[in-house]
Amino acid sequence: MHDKSALVDEAKSILQTNDMGGYTVPTHDLYPFQWNWDAAITALGWMTFDQPRAWQEIELLLKGQWENGMIPHIVFHKEVDSYFPGADVWGTDGNLKTTSISQPPVLASVVKILAEKSDDQNLTKSKLTSMLPKLIESHLWWYRDRDPKNSGLVVSYHPWESGMDNSPAWDEALAVVPPVDWHYIRRDTHHVDSMQRPHQAEYDRYLYLVDFFKQQNFDADKIFDSCPYKMNDIGIISILHKANKDLVALCEANDYNSDELSLLKDKIILTESAISELWHPESSSFLSKNAITGKLCTELTTGTLMALYGELATASQAKKIGLLLKNWLDSSQYSIASTHPENSKFEAQRYWRGPVWLHINWLIAQGAEQYGMDELSEQIKQSSSVLINKAGFYEYFNCDTGEGCGGDQFSWTAAIAMYWFL
Ligand code: SER
Repeated sequence: MHDKSALVDEAKSILQTNDMGGYTVPTHDLYPFQWNWDAAITALGWMTFDQPRAWQEIELLLKGQWENGMIPHIVFHKEVDSYFPGADVWGTDGNLKTTSISQPPVLASVVKILAEKSDDQNLTKSKLTSMLPKLIESHLWWYRDRDPKNSGLVVSYHPWESGMDNSPAWDEALAVVPPVDWHYIRRDTHHVDSMQRPHQAEYDRYLYLVDFFKQQNFDADKIFDSCPYKMNDIGIISILHKANKDLVALCEANDYNSDELSLLKDKIILTESAISELWHPESSSFLSKNAITGKLCTELTTGTLMALYGELATASQAKKIGLLLKNWLDSSQYSIASTHPENSKFEAQRYWRGPVWLHINWLIAQGAEQYGMDELSEQIKQSSSVLINKAGFYEYFNCDTGEGCGGDQFSWTAAIAMYWFL
């Protein structure tokens, strides 16, 4: 067992080493830019010892916000050639280059935490004054561009958008996407063992989609009509729903009112009434749905547990999910495995097909707590801190051996450990 204060020092120094002067790279070389949900989670770590720096992380992310409200999944603040696909492949306009997709919108929920934990109310007020309208715009973008038919369930256009890139839940939908027809050299497998990364066949399709968005001139209507990959991702839907409720509460607590805010309140009701479409009694879980075929993705992945975090489950559904979660926790040595260990596609070390991710554990632990499952929530926290003690601050962890996988000295792992249990 490591000394707690030594771990805190190490976690702090990871953020400082990854600090590029206002934004934090997830880890050098492998991910040398600012990522959307990484930035949000990383701000929680900064908050524990440098509150102005935490706000700055978010300000720099928001610099990449598009005019239509989208907060991109990567902001390419500076050119670095250790990553592929870089800004040139994405081909977006603007002085500050970005990707053309988004990522799970946990940001507003993080801003609410920063505001509530802040001990400098003047600073908080001034930050909120500039950030609230931008956060509202970003949520409206999700509902307008990704749910133009007002179903209550937004769609995602890319596995990278889910943040859970090679989750088995996306396999079937991705298999229909053609492979890209030009040659490229991956950089990720120069930095990390290829056994811990997605397969080439998945990359071929990830890149086809990147090209597709560019060919459609990033036009929202055209992409909605013809994108070959469209997913009602229960992870994104749950995180957006929670963030939306948090944003409304934050605005109300700060006497911020606007017509847009009422629109967001309507969306809360709409999603709550639509979510039963994703409930799958046989799995005792909510599932993602391929929005092109209408088929539910029956693989159990941690994305499916996010409905607890979004508080989208009824009491009786939550009880069933709680039993599933208990079984899930007991099914691997270290938890929570990103794909249920009994699934045929489970691989203990391969990115989102089995490894444990600490920020996901934190979200699910909150979900369990919201439904009064305090023991499960505590168990998740304990198993997360065991991994840090055993392996250090890796990107993710092999759920059978506890070995650190992917990038080392990883910002969101350091941040969530500091914020949650260190
Ligand atoms: N996670 C992706 C990657 O591995 C991008 O978001 O590059």
